[in-house]
Amino acid sequence: MEKNPDGIFPAGADMVRAATEFKCGDLLRLGTEMPEIRKIIIDTDPGQDDAVAIMAALASPELDVLGLTVVAGNVPLALTEKNARKICELSGRPKTKVFAGAIRPMVRDLVTAENVHGKTGLNGPVLPDPTMPLQDQYAVDFIVETLMREKSGSVTICALGPLTNIGLALVREPRIAPRIREIVLMGGGLFEGGNLTPAAEFNICVDPHAADLVLRSGVPIVIVPLDCTHKVLTTAKRIAAFRDLGTAPGIAVAEMLEFFERFDEAKYGTDGGPLHDPCVIAYLLKPELFSGRHINVEVETVSELTLGMTVADWWGVTNRPKNATYLLEVDDQGVFDLLVERIGRL
Ligand code: RIB
Ligand code: CA
Repeated sequence: MEKNPDGIFPAGADMVRAATEFKCGDLLRLGTEMPEIRKIIIDTDPGQDDAVAIMAALASPELDVLGLTVVAGNVPLALTEKNARKICELSGRPKTKVFAGAIRPMVRDLVTAENVHGKTGLNGPVLPDPTMPLQDQYAVDFIVETLMREKSGSVTICALGPLTNIGLALVREPRIAPRIREIVLMGGGLFEGGNLTPAAEFNICVDPHAADLVLRSGVPIVIVPLDCTHKVLTTAKRIAAFRDLGTAPGIAVAEMLEFFERFDEAKYGTDGGPLHDPCVIAYLLKPELFSGRHINVEVETVSELTLGMTVADWWGVTNRPKNATYLLEVDDQGVFDLLVERIGRL
């Protein structure tokens, strides 16, 4: 596999690892294999951008969504779990299993983001209260039970919110760590700084201790940071493409994004706001839309000033172990084309 001039590998953690373990010929063979159906757990705090990610995943036959595990984040758990079920019903997938998880971070008090997502966390469209059930099982137990049951290395965790559920699962049953195929998480930032504080991105900053546990777990990790998602803007033209689908899901996505973007448009002065969480699903479906580097990433868990900051050693100035594929570049139009096409299938 050829590195880009500045040393960046085309993304795809498996491909990155393969690039360091096999010669090119093996890679060609790897690249020509039919894509298998990938088993995933989506851990989420809906959230309009979570919603679009979940809808795209539910619409994609390449992904077998084993369950949604919900966490407190953008809004309190009572709302995020309800929003998750609303989204499944909007997607025509009422049999999706939704599990409620952590009501607060592992150590810190909960910080929420109604200023961005609205009071319900899903402001924009008017969606009916869900009728599908919330599963009785605690989300953390579902994560552990699923990973201990499914073939080792077959389940990917897509983390779209604070990492509390995943951190708790790793503590509850350390044996799950080597059984997780990959954790693809939206979180962190380096060149873009933070969005909750000047130094820290929301998902990491809400629960930095859980994030630290995950980053030290030894599980293969792909990070989709603000450095990447800030290049994926919900411009008016792109929102119109969802609305032009003319379907209830398409129109609801347009209404969600029109509400969700207003905060960041005012903040950054851009046409549209960054679309964060759907980049995680887009990466799973088309990793070639992204590129990054395998580097060391650690989290500040002590300093009040920089709590939750992801210290990403992009330039390799330390000898700290490389523990994450950190994505930087993205084909943003390619992401939107993929999302519109998938939402259009619902
Ligand atoms: O910083 C953006 C992240 O925080 C997204 O996952 C958004 O949904 C919020 O959870
Ligand atoms: Ca989220």
